[in-house]
Amino acid sequence: MKMPAPILVTGNLPASVLDTLKREFQVECHAEDRPMSRSKLLHSIRDKIGLLSMITDDIDGELLDYAPKLIMIANMAVGYNNIDLEAAAKRGILVSNTPGVLTEATADLAFSLILGTARRIAEGDRMVREGRFSFWAPFHFLGRDVSGKTLGIIGMGRIGKAVARRARGFQMPILYFSRNPLEKTEEEELNAHYVPLNNLLGESDFVSLHIPLSSVTRHFISEKEFSLMKTTAFLINTSRGPVVDEKALLEALQNRIIAGAGIDVYENEPAITPGLEKLDQVLLLPHVGSATLETRTRMAAMAAGNLLAGLRGEAPPNLINP
Ligand code: GLV
Repeated sequence: MKMPAPILVTGNLPASVLDTLKREFQVECHAEDRPMSRSKLLHSIRDKIGLLSMITDDIDGELLDYAPKLIMIANMAVGYNNIDLEAAAKRGILVSNTPGVLTEATADLAFSLILGTARRIAEGDRMVREGRFSFWAPFHFLGRDVSGKTLGIIGMGRIGKAVARRARGFQMPILYFSRNPLEKTEEEELNAHYVPLNNLLGESDFVSLHIPLSSVTRHFISEKEFSLMKTTAFLINTSRGPVVDEKALLEALQNRIIAGAGIDVYENEPAITPGLEKLDQVLLLPHVGSATLETRTRMAAMAAGNLLAGLRGEAPPNLINP
């Protein structure tokens, strides 16, 4: 009997998903909570024909040189900036992602950050826990309204639109800036108005980022963009850390150029720019946009489905590089 071909899974997946892979392949799974180390990844990839990867795996030309048998990489994420697509294409390696299944969870988190920054949720929690809740007064611990305020959405793809749908329930006028403007009917449905970036920055009370990271979008929001925002505005980032110049963000917050920020992703994850943690007007989360049991389960199943299809010689449903 022929031995099943080996594949590598670099994160802990639900048993049922692993089982579907094990039926056809010999699976090496890094079933630990922490990301796989670079040295272990370079060592483990050598004989593998398939890789089910996490966003913490840096998949570059060097790694692919270690993997002469690799046919397909299935990234368990919608973003794939951790993969050098050119290096993969040069070697004829298929790459897929997991779009759609994490849209609602990520939009929920973006909206949590909108509410959380405006109403100072984490700061209030810290105050009560630390025994500093000592009085009520009419103008004490004030936040800002969310309902009726203007939301600026940068990147009106799946997640941007899902945030817009939530904002409708809060009667928020929506401005957006996107590579691909929406059809008129969709704009009307979402009550969203396409505007130039500078107008969006100048008129929005909340600016929420939903663009992928690329060489074009690195530091998309930097000192100049902060200077255009209202001093009462909040920046929300659930996309990718390097889309924001984090040093410029720290300075904008320290100098009260903007009112606050809700941040789930960082420029040099998991490190954060020192000083951010000292500011009460920033709400900091550990990259958990898609981190719900239901969503991560769907992402795992989708990544496994893509990998199985690609290795069987079928077209993976979510191929990025056809
Ligand atoms: C998570 O960050 C993703 O891109 O899915």
